[in-house]
Amino acid sequence: MTGRICGTGSALPHFRVTNDDLSKIMDTSDEWIRSRTGIETRYLATEETTTSLAVEASRKALENAGVDAAELDVIIAATVTPDKLFPTLSCELQSELGAVNATAFDISAGCSGFLFALNTVQAYIESGCCRKALILGAEVLSKIMDWGDRSTCVLFGDGAGAAVICADETGILKCVQRSDGAKGMALHCYNRPVNNPYKKNPADLDYTHMNGQEVYKFAVRTVPKTISEILAAVDVTPDEVSYFILHQANIRIIESVAKRLHQPMEKFPLNLTECGNISAASVPTLLDKVNRRGLLKKGDKIVLAGFGAGLTWGAAVLTW
Ligand code: COA
Repeated sequence: MTGRICGTGSALPHFRVTNDDLSKIMDTSDEWIRSRTGIETRYLATEETTTSLAVEASRKALENAGVDAAELDVIIAATVTPDKLFPTLSCELQSELGAVNATAFDISAGCSGFLFALNTVQAYIESGCCRKALILGAEVLSKIMDWGDRSTCVLFGDGAGAAVICADETGILKCVQRSDGAKGMALHCYNRPVNNPYKKNPADLDYTHMNGQEVYKFAVRTVPKTISEILAAVDVTPDEVSYFILHQANIRIIESVAKRLHQPMEKFPLNLTECGNISAASVPTLLDKVNRRGLLKKGDKIVLAGFGAGLTWGAAVLTW
C-alpha cells in the first residue's frame, strides 16, 4: 500500500495587499519586489486566524475527496504560526471537523512542513496503521514579520492548504525529508524568552530574520539535486513529469530549478505572484489550484518539493 492524494483544499484571507499598497507604508516599490521575487500581491489576515484558515482548507479537501471527517485516522498540521502553543492546531482542527477517530499532531519544519507531513503519513500508511489522513499547511506569517524590515516582510503572505491522503495501490512513488540544523540561523525567529521569578527577561517578542542570499543559494543547490535523486530512485525522468509543484518563495529560485532540470517553466505552476510565500501552506495551496483547474490527469507524474527554515527540505514524486 502507498499514499494517494485523493482531495485538496485551500483558503486565503480576504484582504489583498499589492506591492503598490506596501510602497505607501514603507520604502519599497512594485518594481523592486516584482523584479527580485516575482511577487505582485499577497493576502494578509485581518479577521482570519491560522485555525480558521486551516478549518476552511480542510473542509474543502474532505469534500473534494468525498471523505467524512470521522473516517480520518491521522491529522497532521504543519505550521510555524499556530494560534496557541497548545493545544496544537491539529487538535483544534480535529475538534472543529468532528474527526473523532483521528490522532492529531503538529509538525514544525518551516516551508518544508507539508512535505514532512506527507512523508510522515506515507510511513504510517506503509506500516499499515493508517488508511485515511488529512495533512495541511496553515500560516499567518504576517504576525511574525518585522514590518519595519522591508527585506523580509514584503515576501510573505497568509493562507492554508490541505490534502486528504488515502491508502491505495498507486500514488506516492517516493518521498524524502532532510534537514541541516547547522544552517538554522539563516532563517529564524525566537520564541518568548526565559522569564520566571529567578530569571527576568524583557517580554519583547522576536520577529523573522533571514539571510536572503544564503537561503537563496541553499535552495538553488538543494532542490534540483533532491528532485533528481528521487526521480532516479524510481526510474522516472524529468521529461516524464507533468508538473513540478515547488515551494513558492521566489520566481528566480523556480527558474533556476527548471533550468537545472532542463524543463520548461510551463511545467512549474505558480501562485507566488498572487500569494507571496506562505511557508508550509505554499505547496498545498498551489496543488489545490492546479487540481481544481483540472490540469492533473489520472496517471500523470507529479513532483512536489519544499525547502525552508531548519534548514529543511523535502520532495515527493507521485502518480496522480
Ligand atoms: N524594497 C526596496 N529595496 C529593498 C527591499 C525592498 N523590499 N529589500 C531590500 N532592499 C534593498 C537592500 O536594502 C539593498 O540595498 P543596498 O544595496 O543599498 O544595501 C538592496 O535592496 C539589495 O538587497 P539584497 O538583500 O542584496 O537583495 P537580493 O538581490 O539578495 O534579493 C531577496 C533579496 C530576499 C529577494 C533574495 O535574497 C531572495 O529571494 N532570497 C531567498 C529568500 C527566500 O526565498 N526565503 C524564503 C525561503 S523559505
